[in-house]
Amino acid sequence: MREATPPASKRLAVLTSGGDAPGMNAAIRAVTLVGRAAGWEVFGVRQGYQGLIEDQIDPLGPQDVQRIVREGGTILGSARCKAFHERATRDRARALLAAREISSLIVIGGNGSLTGALALSDPAEAGEDPVRVIGIPASIDNDLALTSLSIGVDTAMNTIVEACDKIADTASAHDRTFLIEVMGRECGYLAMTSAVAAGADMVLFPEAERGDDELVDDVCRAVEAVRKRAARDRRVIAIKAEGVRLPTAELKRRVDLELARRSVDPEHPVETRVTVLGHVVRGGRPSAFDRLLGSRLANVAVRALLAGKTRVMAAWMPPVELPAAIAARSPDDPYCFLVELPAVLAATEELLGGEGALARWRKAIFEQLDTVLLL
Ligand code: F6P
Repeated sequence: MREATPPASKRLAVLTSGGDAPGMNAAIRAVTLVGRAAGWEVFGVRQGYQGLIEDQIDPLGPQDVQRIVREGGTILGSARCKAFHERATRDRARALLAAREISSLIVIGGNGSLTGALALSDPAEAGEDPVRVIGIPASIDNDLALTSLSIGVDTAMNTIVEACDKIADTASAHDRTFLIEVMGRECGYLAMTSAVAAGADMVLFPEAERGDDELVDDVCRAVEAVRKRAARDRRVIAIKAEGVRLPTAELKRRVDLELARRSVDPEHPVETRVTVLGHVVRGGRPSAFDRLLGSRLANVAVRALLAGKTRVMAAWMPPVELPAAIAARSPDDPYCFLVELPAVLAATEELLGGEGALARWRKAIFEQLDTVLLL
């Protein structure tokens, strides 16, 4: 890893960006408290990069963060800021930070947000003394590579499991088949782990790369298996990741047609229903684990900044062995690592493209976990 040098001022700012994730507030709180305990001034940027370029920056003190650890969402607000892809916008952000003598920025967010952080701190753009940045992974999708978990994943999984438990009650009462769509734009992690934890009968995730006919067949086979196996409680819970391209309403239409064509249990025709959990999955009070994860990653991130590090992400137990050139265990928490941001983003691109060791490993694990379910 690169040698650390001291930052120009003892002023740091923190922002949350992209889709909010439960546990972001715990991270904001820890950044504020750890930073101030070290004698730094801490500032909060409102509405992510959008607020940064609008100079929406206010001091953060203990009174602002004391009671936020149990709140969902983010007290700073969040946004997806397309303009930040442009160099001129980033120049403006750097100028505004410099005017306030803020030398360092902690970015809490997912793939797009950390890409923005890297560009903001690029010495080729920023010149001699670029703003220091440290990333903290937060995204319910768990689609960032080189951290085994991002903030928000655990709460989202618990929300899905709770919803599935409730749906299972009514599904059992009517012997119905439910197709439950859960968030996860390009990644089936939430769908798969929730399916296992909820005791679902099957799961559809994009990493399996199944064609539309196979998806329909998978659901129909699950229904047939349950109908053959049980005289009572013949409900089927099928979880589908948002990232599976066949729209859920269309999947239901085709499943209905196929079940009729196969004449599955003609005396008791199968009724299907769709529930799209959508943004419900992103809200709610953070789980105890997400509060802890947000606090621990933030603690490590601030201490890395104080030690002069930049362009790294605080990661939670990376799932693969990483070379010393790109990652080091945090001296402040044995479960956390500091991983070079360019390496994180390159590995994330591979992961989302279904390429590389990590994608193959995830796919293999998903396929093995699939056998825990009915099929
Ligand atoms: O933050 C990730 C995510 O929740 C995805 O799972 C989902 O596809 C997307 O954000 C939704 O984004 P938005 O809230 O902007 O509609």
